[in-house]
Amino acid sequence: MSQSLTIRRPDDWHLHLRDGAMLRAVLPETSRDFARAIIMPNLVPPVVTGAEAAAYRDRILAALPAGDAFTPLMTLYLTEDTDADDLAAAHASGLITAVKLYPAGATTNSASGVQDFDRVRPVLERMAEIGCPLCVHGEVTDPAVDIFDREAVFIERVLDPIRRATPGLRVVMEHITTSNGVDYVLAGDDTLGATITTHHLVINRNHILVGGIKPHYYCLPVAKREEHRLALRRAATSGKSRFFLGTDSAPHTDALKENSCGCAGCFTATNTMSILAQVFEQDNALDQLEAFTSLNGPAFYGLPANDAMITLTKGAPADYPSKLDTTDGPVTLFDPGYALHWRAS
Ligand code: DOR
Ligand code: ZN
Repeated sequence: MSQSLTIRRPDDWHLHLRDGAMLRAVLPETSRDFARAIIMPNLVPPVVTGAEAAAYRDRILAALPAGDAFTPLMTLYLTEDTDADDLAAAHASGLITAVKLYPAGATTNSASGVQDFDRVRPVLERMAEIGCPLCVHGEVTDPAVDIFDREAVFIERVLDPIRRATPGLRVVMEHITTSNGVDYVLAGDDTLGATITTHHLVINRNHILVGGIKPHYYCLPVAKREEHRLALRRAATSGKSRFFLGTDSAPHTDALKENSCGCAGCFTATNTMSILAQVFEQDNALDQLEAFTSLNGPAFYGLPANDAMITLTKGAPADYPSKLDTTDGPVTLFDPGYALHWRAS
C-alpha cells in the first residue's frame, strides 16, 4: 500500500545557485519542490552591495521556469569594507534577507571574507539594531587547527565572542556538522538557529575516505565522525524550532570535483526531499519532517510558512538520474547509497 504525507511547501535556508549556464541548469531542480531559498552570495566576484544583490536576483528570476513559484531570498557577502548604510537600505527595502559571514579562506570563493573580526564589529552592531540576521560559515582557518576540529574551535574562538559582544544579533550557524554545534544551539537563546544539510544527515567521514576517495562526498565543513552525524539526526528529527533545513546544495562540474584538487560541495537539490523523507522515516520521525523543512525556518526568519502544500508518496524506487547535464559539463547528484522510495509531487 502506498503511504503519503502532505506538508507545507518546504524552503531551503542555504543554497548555492551560481550564475550563467549553471544557474539556468540548477534553479529548476530547486524551484520544483521549494518555495523560497536563501541564496548564497559567493559568486566570483562576490555579491557585496545592494545593487549587486538586486542584479543577481533579477538574473535568478529570469532563469526561473515559467509557472514555478519561487522566491529567492538574497544575501550580501560580508567583507571588511561592507558599507553599513548600503546594507541597512537593502534590508529595509526587503531586497536582502540576511548577510553571510565567510572567514577568509574557509571555503569555495571565500577569499574576500573576513580576516579580522573586530573590523566588522560596527556592521554587526548595525545588523543587530535593524534585525538583519547573520548567516555564519563556522570554521576557523588557522592552519594549526585540524580540519575536523575547525567548527568546534570556531564556536569557542569566534562565534561565542561575537554573540557576547553583539547582544540581539540574530545568528544562523550554517550547515552544522558536529555535536558541539548542536549543543551550542541548544544552549543558546532564540536569537540563535542552525541549518543542517541533507548530506550531513546521511554521510560520515568514512563515506568520503574508506575504500577509495569519494570526491562527490567532499564538502565543507567536511563530514565528521558517526557520533556527530547521529547528533545531527537527533537535532533535525527533534522538531525543535531552532534547527531547519539548509541544503547547501553546491553544484560543481564533475571535471572540478574529480580532480587532483577537487572542489567542495554536494549537489542535493534534485533529490533532497526524497532523501529527507527516508531519513525521517528511518528515525520514526515523519511527523517532524514538516517542522524541519517548512515551519522552523520561516519562524526563525520572521516570515509566514508557505500556503502551498507538497505531497510525498512512498512507492517503487524513484529513478533519479545520476547526473544533471549542464552546458558547463555534468554535475553528479548526491547519492545517499540506498534506493529512494519517496517522491515529491
Ligand atoms: O561544500 C561547500 N561548498 N561548502 C561551502 O561552504 C561552499 C560551497 C560552494 O560554494 O561550493
Ligand atoms: Zn554553502
